[in-house]
Amino acid sequence: MSIYLDNAATTPLDPEFFEAMKPFMLEDFGNPSSTHTHGRKIKAALESSRKKIAELLNCTPGEIIFTSGGTEADNAIITSAVKTYSIKTIITSPIEHHAVLHTVEQLSKDHVVQPHYLNVDSKGHIDVDQLQDLLLKNQNSLVTLMQANNEVGNLSDIGYISELCERHQAYFHSDTVQTVGHYRHDLKKIKVHGMAASAHKFHGPKGVGFMFIRKDKKITPFLHGGSQERNMRGGTENVYGIIGLAKALEIAYRDMDEHTRHIKELKARMIAKLRENIPGVSFHGDSEDLEKSLYTVLNVSLPESEDNDMILFNLVLQGISASGGSACSSGATLGSHVLASINPDSKRGSIRFSFSKYNTPEEIDFVVDKLKELCKVSLPG
Ligand SMILES: Cc1ncc(COP(=O)(O)O)c(C=O)c1O
Repeated sequence: MSIYLDNAATTPLDPEFFEAMKPFMLEDFGNPSSTHTHGRKIKAALESSRKKIAELLNCTPGEIIFTSGGTEADNAIITSAVKTYSIKTIITSPIEHHAVLHTVEQLSKDHVVQPHYLNVDSKGHIDVDQLQDLLLKNQNSLVTLMQANNEVGNLSDIGYISELCERHQAYFHSDTVQTVGHYRHDLKKIKVHGMAASAHKFHGPKGVGFMFIRKDKKITPFLHGGSQERNMRGGTENVYGIIGLAKALEIAYRDMDEHTRHIKELKARMIAKLRENIPGVSFHGDSEDLEKSLYTVLNVSLPESEDNDMILFNLVLQGISASGGSACSSGATLGSHVLASINPDSKRGSIRFSFSKYNTPEEIDFVVDKLKELCKVSLPG
């Protein structure tokens, strides 16, 4: 038995997009910067991928810059926006991904910016009044707040935050790595200035992503080299990765309604079965609310027990892959910085289950049964 419930860490490849990539791996090998026929063919495929992504997100192709993934996109936007606009203040939250937090920390260590971290309550909600207050007091700030938290699944209203930022002339970056490919973005409506996406979070290839940079809020290049990516990022493009990314996003949009419904049903089933079988179980953040949270993530809070540390390990022995916190630091024994921020004193166990279109109700039932055994809970009667 092998059950994969760690889809917020990465998703299995969709064979349909692999077919789209294959000719560019095996036959069409040209360099898109070359002006001869081999190069032009690849350049055309690259630009049609960019156009496809722009159509899906309702922006212009020139606003899409390909990167090596979400981490590079977050780093590039924050660092370059600070440089371009001589920004001295960053407003963020302690529950951002490390791709954001460590970038902000570095800029602060280098004495380039003063960071401000918004308060978060025990449900993981950021203090929006404090954001308004900080924006009033600090002209020319950069705000970086994620759309969906990868650990507890909380969703932020980036439309509203973007309006606040616009009112106060702040640069607004949002880490949308967990939402692109799972929700529709209309970038004509949402006034975010920069956002990040990563293909492997929506069944695409690893090591490729993109940043959206609004055309009236351009930033200086982050990687210096050739004139690729409209002079924004030097280096020969990961062509087959990009073609795979665009195809994966196209498939994600095509099937989004059906997959959203399927995954929500799985999540609702898991919540109901856990409640039925594990007395005292609860859920971190908003993750039990199907509408208010990222539908792909359920962060389960297990009653306090000395055995909690062993539960994830025992799930692995049963062939079940889930995560104890953020998988981006898996292998490390460090606890989750997100849970430490929202529930600093809790001694309860935590397991993040995250779902994809490939999971089944039978898998959910099997996992809950195992969890019940591991929690050594016997049903009354
Ligand atoms: C919210 C968030 N931001 C950024 C990243 C980093 O993306 P990548 O793995 O493409 O560098 C991740 C990956 O887990 C993520 O969940």
